[in-house]
Amino acid sequence: MVRIETSIYLDFLSKFGVGGAHPGGIQLTKEIFKSERITPATHILDVGCGTGQTAAYLASQYGAIVTGIDINPIMVEKAKTRMARYQLPVEIIQGSIENCPLKDETFDFIISESVLSFVNKPRTLIEIFRLLKKGGRFIANELTINQRIDLSNKKEITQFYGLDSLLMERDWINLLQRTGFRGIKIRKQEQLISHQKITPEFFYSDYIEPELYTIMNQHVYIMAKYQGVLDYRVFSCAK
Ligand SMILES: C[S@@+](CC[C@H](N)C(=O)[O-])C[C@H]1O[C@@H](n2cnc3c(N)ncnc32)[C@H](O)[C@@H]1O
Repeated sequence: MVRIETSIYLDFLSKFGVGGAHPGGIQLTKEIFKSERITPATHILDVGCGTGQTAAYLASQYGAIVTGIDINPIMVEKAKTRMARYQLPVEIIQGSIENCPLKDETFDFIISESVLSFVNKPRTLIEIFRLLKKGGRFIANELTINQRIDLSNKKEITQFYGLDSLLMERDWINLLQRTGFRGIKIRKQEQLISHQKITPEFFYSDYIEPELYTIMNQHVYIMAKYQGVLDYRVFSCAK
């Protein structure tokens, strides 16, 4: 059985069906893949695929063979609905990337967009490494902090988002290197995370708990309060 550890923030994302729920949104995803070699023979795994916006883009733009995995059944249902609506042959699996049901060395590319922060990072990176073919590439767009912060601030952020830790750029690099990834490249956006203009995409559930309506505001508040501290990086590396 898949154990779901969630947070009110992830509940909000799934019930509102927020697509492109990562820094830079789908625009940044498109930019990232422009410099990668993707063909119709490329197998890609979208880890924590959410409502499937990125997975759908990769299948429709490149004709790639795409699989999405997400732990949240609401996200999975919405991703499946998207693929059916656009007749895209993308396989969407409900499961945890911490203990993934897929076979070793299946994928040429694995992407995680704002997902590793929510899971057991060392365990998940071992799974991602296992799933990648030799020479395959892993791209992660993940939250970072630019400086160490005190305990009460850390608690405010981690409790709201449901994170076990907040990592600086060098912590992510250490983790990736320890897992065995090589050739780590880092992309840092100049624009602050709180100043990004992302066109949101919503796919609402029929019933949304009243307490979830305030979560977007709380997210915006935290991003503004920790402006310059909360940041993100796009890490790309190879097996
Ligand atoms: C911030 S959302 C990002 C969703 C998507 N990548 C996007 O950019 O729109 C994080 C996603 O990770 C998923 N997730 C959290 N823990 C997971 C796990 N252990 N295995 C798979 N997915 C997980 C959540 O359900 C959620 O859909």
